[in-house]
Amino acid sequence: MSLNKELINKIITVTSKAAISCNQFIGKNDKINADKAATDSMRNEINKLKINGEVVIGEGELDDAPMLYIGEKLGAGGDLNIDIAVDPLEGTNFVAKNLPGALSVISVAEKGNLFNAPETYMDKLAVSKHVPNDATDLDFSIEKNIKNIADALNKDIRNITACLLNRPRHNEIINELKKMKVKIKLISDGDVSGALMITDKKYDVDIFLGIGGGPEGVLAASAIDAYGCKFQGRFLFDNDKDINRAKQMGIKDLNKKYDLKEIIKGDSIFCATGITTGDLVKGINVKDNKYITETLVTHKSSNMCKIVIREDIIKT
Ligand code: FBP
Repeated sequence: MSLNKELINKIITVTSKAAISCNQFIGKNDKINADKAATDSMRNEINKLKINGEVVIGEGELDDAPMLYIGEKLGAGGDLNIDIAVDPLEGTNFVAKNLPGALSVISVAEKGNLFNAPETYMDKLAVSKHVPNDATDLDFSIEKNIKNIADALNKDIRNITACLLNRPRHNEIINELKKMKVKIKLISDGDVSGALMITDKKYDVDIFLGIGGGPEGVLAASAIDAYGCKFQGRFLFDNDKDINRAKQMGIKDLNKKYDLKEIIKGDSIFCATGITTGDLVKGINVKDNKYITETLVTHKSSNMCKIVIREDIIKT
């Protein structure tokens, strides 16, 4: 059995239900319980699937239970062995404060094909398929990356847009971008969405860069793969616990720069369901006793990148 259409529909159900479970927490200033609701729902739904699944990107380690932890086995068994990356609630602040852009996100690949990493930060770079592969690199200066993108896209540097998280750690990058008169799109949270902005011209983002969560990087890479775009990431380790854990997981070179193909291989399914309306998908809409959800779905082997709308009857 492979990552077929039937499984795609089931994975859409997983993120849709996790998103719906957060609906009651929108604007309630309760990140913890919103995240818990999404996590519990995701675990419950995945456990109904006839798969042998293992969480390779999750919400921390076993000690951090009840989160979906790295190494957790999921599924009702069967012939399909898969790796799972989860972010049941991407943008906990967005739900807590009723702000745009909260998502429930998952990516699945066949066993051994999805990167297994501890929950650390990652330095990231993503550009569209219209930029040649060798034009950008995490190790190039900001100036070189921006100039090369402008050349490749035949655009004036002042019309290049760079998207990054609004964090003090990015002040130097932001200053360089300002000096070059690049358009800057600063996001307060939600860098899975931020990275996905490079997949389509309609978002008007030419490069996504900067440091954000490693799990979010792996999830974004898997979606970006289906769009044929470029992603690079380098994990950042700042404490002994994460360093030791990374070594246990088989990461020998802690400074290694990973290209997309090393993060996600072979076929994959990515689903991101909107909780609050954002750039990628609309949030949960309650209408006529139904929850209407939008899910961005990608499936690598069928080149599928589309938005699926689902209706779930509200049970009273
Ligand atoms: P949560 O949903 O776990 O709160 O993560 C939101 C997020 O903005 C991610 O999208 C991003 O990768 C990460 O936090 C950045 O971390 P930090 O807020 O520590 O800079």
